[in-house]
Amino acid sequence: MQVITTVSAFRQTRAAFDTLGFVPTMGYLHEGHLSLIRQARAECPAVAVSIFVNPTQFGPREDFERYPRDMDRDLAMLEREAVDLVFAPTRAEMYPEGYGTYVVLPAADEVLEGAARPGHFRGVATVVCKLLNIVQPTRVYFGQKDAQQTVVVRQMVRDLNIPTTIVVLPTVREADGLAMSSRNTYLTPEERQVAPAIYRGLRAAKERYLAGERNAEALRQAVIAVLDAEPLLRPEYVSVADPITLRELERVGEQGALVSLAVRLGSVRLIDNVVLGASL
Ligand code: PAF
Repeated sequence: MQVITTVSAFRQTRAAFDTLGFVPTMGYLHEGHLSLIRQARAECPAVAVSIFVNPTQFGPREDFERYPRDMDRDLAMLEREAVDLVFAPTRAEMYPEGYGTYVVLPAADEVLEGAARPGHFRGVATVVCKLLNIVQPTRVYFGQKDAQQTVVVRQMVRDLNIPTTIVVLPTVREADGLAMSSRNTYLTPEERQVAPAIYRGLRAAKERYLAGERNAEALRQAVIAVLDAEPLLRPEYVSVADPITLRELERVGEQGALVSLAVRLGSVRLIDNVVLGASL
């Protein structure tokens, strides 16, 4: 496994590989990342992983400074997965003095995570665009947990004619249903006990949908009823939206729906989602 920290060295090394699968990450790896890496391994002869906590996708009052980092642990995990290339640039390598170009998808800022976290998707789209230019992967892998991120990246890749295939894989969950996330490490033991209610709420909407409910507000209320039973959980939004445009729905039709939410649990902000009747 080669660990590379500069763009020029990565480009040189990448030239020796033909088909390349790529998993972009911010490190502090968990089973969710490993499922993406294993799928890349199964589909591509060589696999690259990036580790970079991207400052431009964090707001000024968000957790950039305290975001968990453990490069040694991450590299040991990647070694065990037989990853070929690791790209772990510094902040100065990605955003050198005088850096001034950003990728903006204005529609993304109007809904869901984009509305809740101004500037977040500008940072995500910019860094993913840069990483795709540097790594030049044949296939790039993302998790369904960051549903809006997958929509944003698909649109950017289409609009900017970036020659790669996007693969989105299901959310990996703990045994009690909590979606795996590097931010779960922030939870106190008491908060960790409450956290599975997030997925229970989403499941409640899914069950109502499978029983025939198509009214979006009724599905939303099914989620909220479960969340409200846990006083420590403070919902930021619960959305029942079109899975492609991410616009709120009144009724769920042929296109299905993305039921997604963000909650605060103590000092931690968590997101999760389920898809009804269609796949993204
Ligand atoms: O999903 C993430 O971990 C990040 O948003 C990504 C895609 C690595 C960009 O920083």
